[in-house]
Amino acid sequence: MKLAPSVLAADFVRLGEQVAEVARAGADRLHVDVMDGVFVPNISMGPLVVEALKRASDLPLEVHLMIVEPDRHLEAFAEAGAHSLIVHQETCPHLHRSVQRVKALGLKAGVAINPATPVPLLDEILPELDLALVMTVNPGFGGQAFIARTLDKVRMLAARIQDWSLACELEVDGGIDAQTAPRVRRAGATVAVAGTAVFAHPDGIAAGAKALLEAPDA
Ligand code: DX5
Ligand code: ZN
Repeated sequence: MKLAPSVLAADFVRLGEQVAEVARAGADRLHVDVMDGVFVPNISMGPLVVEALKRASDLPLEVHLMIVEPDRHLEAFAEAGAHSLIVHQETCPHLHRSVQRVKALGLKAGVAINPATPVPLLDEILPELDLALVMTVNPGFGGQAFIARTLDKVRMLAARIQDWSLACELEVDGGIDAQTAPRVRRAGATVAVAGTAVFAHPDGIAAGAKALLEAPDA
């Protein structure tokens, strides 16, 4: 399972140093949580931070858009240097169009679903995707508790990806730590987002990343 550290949990005064540290610790990409205070209760960062991360790191930048009307901002994030854009199924009435727009910008396209959104709502778009993201907490904040019921959704999506022979990554986001990482891995997740468990690990970033990447099966 690949690791995508969420910079939401980083120390923004030392962002450059901290992303260099996760790169050395084996991160596959950086996960950037964009929140608008409308779709989710919290406000976080925008294209300016993506552009700064692009200068600070060679890791691919995966931008998770927790915003209403994401189509209005796809181009700005592409110009800022995003490598992939993830929109939410819940914010896109014309999801197929949104996904095609991301691809037309030359970026990888992902779609996320909230804990209460059923997997079959992705069935028609799944063959078009580079990544499907199962939210394992309700989006909006770092440091929340993993919702165990979402494991069934990870299993259902993993089965579809396999049965339909799709080249789609299966990502989980929220409450991933050394205890929950083996559970999502067994359920079929191929990429794990983790903020708190990496950037706020008591023994430091390298130890946090290592604990996730090497978490033994329970
Ligand atoms: C939640 C965000 C997550 C968040 C994960 O709304 O999408 O990416 O940063 O944080 P942790 O790993 O602390 O649950
Ligand atoms: Zn996220």
